[in-house]
Amino acid sequence: MAENIETLLKTSTVYHPTDQTLDQAYIKDYEAAYNASIADPETFWADVAKELEWFSPWDKVLEWNYPWAKWFLGGTCNISYNCLDRHVNSWRKNKVAVIWVGETGEERIFTYAELARQVNRCANALKSLGLNTGDRVTIYLPKIPEQIVAMLACARIGLIHSVVYSGFSAPALESRIKDAEARLIITADYGYDRGKPINLKTVVDQAVANCPTIETSIVVRREKPGIALTDRELDWEEWLAGHSTQCQAEPLDSETPLYFLYTSGTTGKPKGVVHVHGGYMVGTYITTKYVFDLKDEDVYFCVADPGWVTGHSYIVYGPLLNGATILTAEGKPDYPDPGRWWHLIEKYGVSIFYTTPTAIRLLMKYGEDWPGRYDLSTLRVLGSVGEPINPEAWEWFHRVTGGDKPIMDTWWQTETGAILVTPLPCVPLKPGSATRPFLGIEADVVDKAGNSIGTGGGFAVIKKPWPSMMRTIHNDPERYLGYWNNIPGCYTAGDVCHKDEDGYFWFMGRADDVVKVAGNRIGTAEVESALVSHESVVEAAVIGKPHQTAGEMIKAFVILKQGERDTPDLITALKTHVQTELGKIAVPREIEVVTALPKTRSGKIMRRVLKAKELGQDPGDISTLEE
Ligand code: WT7
Repeated sequence: MAENIETLLKTSTVYHPTDQTLDQAYIKDYEAAYNASIADPETFWADVAKELEWFSPWDKVLEWNYPWAKWFLGGTCNISYNCLDRHVNSWRKNKVAVIWVGETGEERIFTYAELARQVNRCANALKSLGLNTGDRVTIYLPKIPEQIVAMLACARIGLIHSVVYSGFSAPALESRIKDAEARLIITADYGYDRGKPINLKTVVDQAVANCPTIETSIVVRREKPGIALTDRELDWEEWLAGHSTQCQAEPLDSETPLYFLYTSGTTGKPKGVVHVHGGYMVGTYITTKYVFDLKDEDVYFCVADPGWVTGHSYIVYGPLLNGATILTAEGKPDYPDPGRWWHLIEKYGVSIFYTTPTAIRLLMKYGEDWPGRYDLSTLRVLGSVGEPINPEAWEWFHRVTGGDKPIMDTWWQTETGAILVTPLPCVPLKPGSATRPFLGIEADVVDKAGNSIGTGGGFAVIKKPWPSMMRTIHNDPERYLGYWNNIPGCYTAGDVCHKDEDGYFWFMGRADDVVKVAGNRIGTAEVESALVSHESVVEAAVIGKPHQTAGEMIKAFVILKQGERDTPDLITALKTHVQTELGKIAVPREIEVVTALPKTRSGKIMRRVLKAKELGQDPGDISTLEE
């Protein structure tokens, strides 16, 4: 089965929207491969799993106790072993694993052998702190190679990593450390934002002051002279020094947790999504391989930050499981100039480029001149992720990269672990559509009762378990059940989706109180509680509103305390307050002072009504409205 698709990818003529000479025979084969995979998903996934190394084989592929899944039961494996040793024990030993480019111009290159040595040393250093299987380590680092090393080192010895995006503020970091009860935090002195140093260590100091579970902090010191450290804080290099570069990967039961990753939902509290070694390894491995048609000769560039799931699955785990050469670059797409990424593509001969609609729209604003200045002829496959891509941005991206490279619009979520709806380079593309479910994935669009809509709009659901699905929400199994109880019989993603007559999926945005700002997932409730924690605010309601570059922007409506005046200074103070509470990405672009908010009789704020009013649309059924 698996081989079949590989041949298909090899022999396919790539379709692009202007090409009317579609190879129908080939499409039929893709269809057949998909149908076979969902007719017997367990066999499909077991065949994929056999391409990886297991310390001992599984007895059972799937145990499905709705909605609790276990995959590859009884098998033992280690994702770090498959990312490193599998290649170090092969001709790939001296192949480049990671090329890292820093904001300030440095370049660091790691072969598989060198990456393995670094990871092993770090794993030994972790052991020396007395950490045990199942202990949690918070990683709060900028986009530097130490982030990748620390993740793999945790995985290697069965520690659970919880990577927190370095743009989150102290209270947001604190709540994530507390929920995970982390014993260790790994951080850095500084990150950089458009060349400006951002002090991360003070954020950590603030957060850790209230986190008694943290025993030690490890600090990567990038600036010279190094910042001062207390005796509970160790310098990264000094901590590693003297530890052996040999460390056996721990054979772990395939259901052993690999990481927690916090993501926003409809309540104020972020959810700690739990992923495990075995199934996650299988899902990220095969999706990276097929979706990007990944080959040993490729240079693979994904612009994400390992602070988010795209970085976990498609910078670190998926590509390394495939023995790929990865390029990862710190910094923004338009710093020092809008040629930054095009320059890197030319310089390193990038063949696979995975980016986001927001970044494409930003680069569009600077014009076609910028990509036009660089040799982009090494590109072969493109990718988009995180939010719907509008056809205009799709066409632009397609045109400036040569007009003949397929764009993989990949739909998935933190919870799904791996890509679920996506083209493969052989699938005919429609700009703006994520096309069809991946092999082995039974996705559909249904109404509230769970009936398939055939063609038309509804809710995106997944009908069967898949290996890389989250196993639970840490400390909150009820919230996990919510995903499977919302619409009977299936996993509800929370997305509104349209299915066309060819069975193509068109994801339209979130159906719940989650906003996607520049692809970042933000819960409106989180922003509301940050706003009401300001002394001048009594009540707040937050909505997402379309925005040209960011896809969506945050707009907040606030009711002020009696006697407070609506002044530009106060609005600025409220924005600063949200930044301090949550981080820059959650700051509302617009704040409007109002005297009342639309509420139901039971007192719930009707954000839907606010949004309709804001967009000049019909608010729909408002019979339950009180004010
Ligand atoms: C939400 C998940 C996917 C990894 C990064 C974000 C939206 C994601 C697409 C796409 C339309 C998309 C959905 C989804 N989304 N990819 N290709 N087309 N929408 O992961 O932060 O967990 O967000 O991102 O709304 O539910 P996340």
